[in-house]
Amino acid sequence: MADYYTTIEAFRKSLEKSTEFRPRTGVILGSGLSKIADSLSGTAIDYSQIQGMPRPTVEGHRGFLKISRDYALLAGRFHYYEGHAIQDVVKPVLLLKALGVERLIVTNAAGGINPDFEPGQIVLIRDHINLMGANPLVGPNNGDLGPRFPDMSDAYSRALRKRISARLEYPLKEGVYAGLSGPCYETPAEIRMLEKIGADMVGMSTVPEVIMANYLGMGTVGFSCITNMAAGILDQPLNHQEVIDTAARVETHFRGIVETVMELLASE
Ligand code: 6GU
Repeated sequence: MADYYTTIEAFRKSLEKSTEFRPRTGVILGSGLSKIADSLSGTAIDYSQIQGMPRPTVEGHRGFLKISRDYALLAGRFHYYEGHAIQDVVKPVLLLKALGVERLIVTNAAGGINPDFEPGQIVLIRDHINLMGANPLVGPNNGDLGPRFPDMSDAYSRALRKRISARLEYPLKEGVYAGLSGPCYETPAEIRMLEKIGADMVGMSTVPEVIMANYLGMGTVGFSCITNMAAGILDQPLNHQEVIDTAARVETHFRGIVETVMELLASE
């Protein structure tokens, strides 16, 4: 296993030179939400300026950290389907840990499985099912960072979810996120299986990052934007353009929710 302790220390050293902010709240933004990071005032640090950060692939955006007194936002994550090692996929979380972040907000785009969901809806993640075929904690464990066999009972903090629901004027639906490696979308048979095993939505990110955050003791909150219904739910084929279009359509709404939650966490 990558020596995560060494990675965190290296990030700490690298960041010492570029910023004095040490916020408590970290946010990992899914693609299509990087405007939040653009609009937040603070210091922008390109991933290329941070020693040990993987290079975003050509397709992805440039990747940067935006940091202020209260928040550390990461725009640009590393997907397993891009060919990144699972140990690299979680580096954004290690970077936040190096800053001393205690609480994490993650966002993603997901396909809807639960028929109560519709494209454009924002769903609070209650739990996940790891079907990525990989786990970032495989390998020797450094007990200074976290336990060998981490408890996952509350990976998506129940207490934080309660506070969020109480704060938002309209209740958010909650759902279980199944994380698969991708890059293909699922077959209709796979979606019927996922529905049977308790998944409400499906995507290709988030699970490795939340496993790492939970291991490191960060309380985590996750949001999925349902960009489309999964294969076989509607009688129509899937395409990436629909994902992009829906994410763009609800961007302002999604952003409002994330910013409200950021303020809620910062005010405590
Ligand atoms: Cl339908 N599946 C997966 N794996 N990821 C998605 C998706 C579906 N829709 C958006 N992201």
